[in-house]
Amino acid sequence: MPPDMTSHSVLEPLDTKIVGHTIEYRAEVGSTNDVARAAAAAGAPDGWTVVADTQTAGRGRFNRRWLSPPGSSIATSFILRPNEHERHWLSPMAALAAARAIEVQTGLHATLKWPNDILANSRKVGGVLVEADGAVVIIGVGINVNFDPRAHIETTGSSSLSAEMGVTVSRLRLLRQLLRETDQLWLRLRRGDNIRSEWQAKLETLGKAVRMQTPTAIVTGIAEAVDELGALIIRDSGGSCHRFMAGEVTMHT
Ligand code: BTN
Repeated sequence: MPPDMTSHSVLEPLDTKIVGHTIEYRAEVGSTNDVARAAAAAGAPDGWTVVADTQTAGRGRFNRRWLSPPGSSIATSFILRPNEHERHWLSPMAALAAARAIEVQTGLHATLKWPNDILANSRKVGGVLVEADGAVVIIGVGINVNFDPRAHIETTGSSSLSAEMGVTVSRLRLLRQLLRETDQLWLRLRRGDNIRSEWQAKLETLGKAVRMQTPTAIVTGIAEAVDELGALIIRDSGGSCHRFMAGEVTMHT
C-alpha cells in the first residue's frame, strides 16, 4: 500500500459535518457498498463512511465488475437517509463532488457523462453506484487514481488520474477533498438548495449526439437537457423528445 493511505491517515479527523464524520478503514473488502449496507442495518448514522484499499468484488452500474486493485483507487461508500426530493439528487451530488475534488487536487479538467460517470480529459476515471435499502441509501464512489488501465482488459476505454497526468496522485488528499465536497453539497441539499444547474454545467453529454440504451429501448438523438428530476431529454431525428431516468449513454462527437 502506498504510504499516503493508511488506516491511520484515513482516520484523521475531517472538518465535515455529516459525510465522512465517522470513517471506517478496511484494507480489503468485497464491496464497500455491502459494508456500508451492513453498517446501516446495524444502526450506523448518516454520513458513516467506509474506505477500502482494495475490493475483491467491487461492482458498477448494470452489475458490471468494478476493479480496485490494491494501492490503485479510491473505493468508498457512505450512508444517507434522504427524503424523497433529496433521493433524486444523491447520484448527481456524488458525481459533482468527485469532479470538483479531482479538479482541486489535480488541476485536471473533470466533467461528467450523464448520469454519473466521472471523466478527466473526457475519459472515464470513476463512477458512482447508488443503492437503496428501504429508507437508507448507500452511495459508492470509485475513482481510478494510480491505475494503469492498459493492464486490465475489463477497463477498455477507461483511464485513471495518473494515466491522464503522467504522475502519481495522492489518494489520501483526493479522498479527503471528495468527502469535504460531498459534505458541503449534502448540507446544501438538506437546506433545500438546488444543485441541478451546477451538475448540468459539468455534464459533457449535453448538446452531443448520443445513443441511449435501456433494457427496453435504444434511442439515438441529441441530448438536449436534464429536467427537474435529473432525467435526460433526448430529441430524436424526427423531432420527438424522449425522457430517461436511467440508462446507458454513449456519446458521439
Ligand atoms: C460505475 O461507473 O459503474 C459505478 C462504479 C462504482 C464503483 C464504486 S467503488 C466503491 C463502491 N463499491 C462498489 O462495489 N462499487 C462502488
